[in-house]
Amino acid sequence: MGKDVIVACDFASGREALAFLDRFAGEERKPFVKIGMELFYAEGPQIVREIKGRGHQIFLDLKLHDIPNTVMKAMRVLSGLEVDLVNLHAAGTVAMMEAALAGLTRADGTRPLLIAVTQLTSTDQHSMEEDLLIREPIDQVVMHYARRAKAAGLDGVVCSPLESGKVKEACGAGFLTVTPGVRFADGDAGDQKRVMTPAQAKEIGSDYIVVGRPITGAADPIAAYRRCVAEFVG
Ligand code: C5P
Repeated sequence: MGKDVIVACDFASGREALAFLDRFAGEERKPFVKIGMELFYAEGPQIVREIKGRGHQIFLDLKLHDIPNTVMKAMRVLSGLEVDLVNLHAAGTVAMMEAALAGLTRADGTRPLLIAVTQLTSTDQHSMEEDLLIREPIDQVVMHYARRAKAAGLDGVVCSPLESGKVKEACGAGFLTVTPGVRFADGDAGDQKRVMTPAQAKEIGSDYIVVGRPITGAADPIAAYRRCVAEFVG
């Protein structure tokens, strides 16, 4: 797996998601697709099989967080769906992350890539202190979680493109950074506060960018996808 653009298929139904992906049928490059909670909870594992069956790679963004035994068993099920990339919350502890890896690993030793969410970008210093009783500066918390994910044997983290460089410094160039918050230079940021263009994300070393509305909401999604690929993959 190399650098790629992951299209966030944030649709409420399988019908809408498949109709969107139908538009890419003539494309030589099949988009890497992110399936999140909304679509997965609406349609269940069948939507994963359906999109996988059409030849797309899949990032299943379900952000698991539970006791290690439960996460291990859930990951075993996800591994059977042949997804390519899955995630969990680093806050679940190293023990939970190690259990997740064990559950993901198939009998033949293969497994999907596993990455960790550090601190959600919806969490800020104030909410971290008030709600979670974590007093350290948020950037240090993010880096600590990244290092714990690395220690547990995970493949990388989801992070802001602005954090990508620091994560690579702390955890090594091979530790994957998957970055949402991507916008075209002439596009609308919407509710994303800290954004980067695909070209900037490439420059700072992100391995994957996750792009939703700039592609799904574009008048011409194919052109928007091609532009992302041209800027980010080259
Ligand atoms: O539409 P947009 O490009 O903002 O979509 C970004 C995608 O990345 C969404 O699926 C969103 O849930 C996800 N994401 C994010 N910020 C995070 C983690 C995930 O935007 N910190």
